[in-house]
Amino acid sequence: MIEKISVPVSNDFCPQTLFCYGTYCDDGRPDFGLFCWLSYIWDRELGVMMCIADEKQTKDNIRKNKCFSANLVTEKMLPLADYLGNSDGRNSEKITPEIAVEKGQKLDVPILADSPVVFELEVVNSVALTEGDVFFCKIRNVLMDRALTDESVPLEKRIAGVAPVSTTCETYFSWGGKVLGGWGEVMGR
Ligand SMILES: Cc1cc2nc3c(=O)[nH]c(=O)nc-3n(C[C@H](O)[C@H](O)[C@H](O)COP(=O)(O)O)c2cc1C
Repeated sequence: MIEKISVPVSNDFCPQTLFCYGTYCDDGRPDFGLFCWLSYIWDRELGVMMCIADEKQTKDNIRKNKCFSANLVTEKMLPLADYLGNSDGRNSEKITPEIAVEKGQKLDVPILADSPVVFELEVVNSVALTEGDVFFCKIRNVLMDRALTDESVPLEKRIAGVAPVSTTCETYFSWGGKVLGGWGEVMGR
């Protein structure tokens, strides 16, 4: 039997997958931020719902353009992703030429060249809360590293190769459960 106690509200010990959302600003520059409040919905087809708190460049761009990319974060990308999650996109210097950015194939969205799984998302509905907004999205395209579609390679090996990063307790974890660092501790570009 598990003896349970009430604790302050948090989602500690409930790991979440990390994505970098890519959007274009009014002046055409790409912006990326780091996000984890994303999950899936069903409405005749698979869709995505996600929450963005407060006001930020990503939210401004999504409200205007109604589309964005969600780029799965891998261990290789973690220093960049941590930087993107701890720097303000309203500063036009945030995205530098060293960050390899490509274009989506179906929507006008920037994507991160190093991410092996990318959703191209169109916002079809939203709910404004007091200090956050929830967006409901159709998945217009999934871009996937071709190697991941090779069914002759065992699934366990394919996902180990992806090495997706998850997070809980303000800490990044490897697919195998190893601590990779705290939020804001592994920043780099
Ligand atoms: C690990 C991590 C996860 C985050 N997840 C979210 C999230 O799901 N929603 C959100 O509004 N902000 C989230 N943030 C904060 C944004 O990444 C941050 O506000 C960033 O500045 C957004 O980029 P932008 O300023 O270019 O829009 C997260 C930050 C970190 C470090």
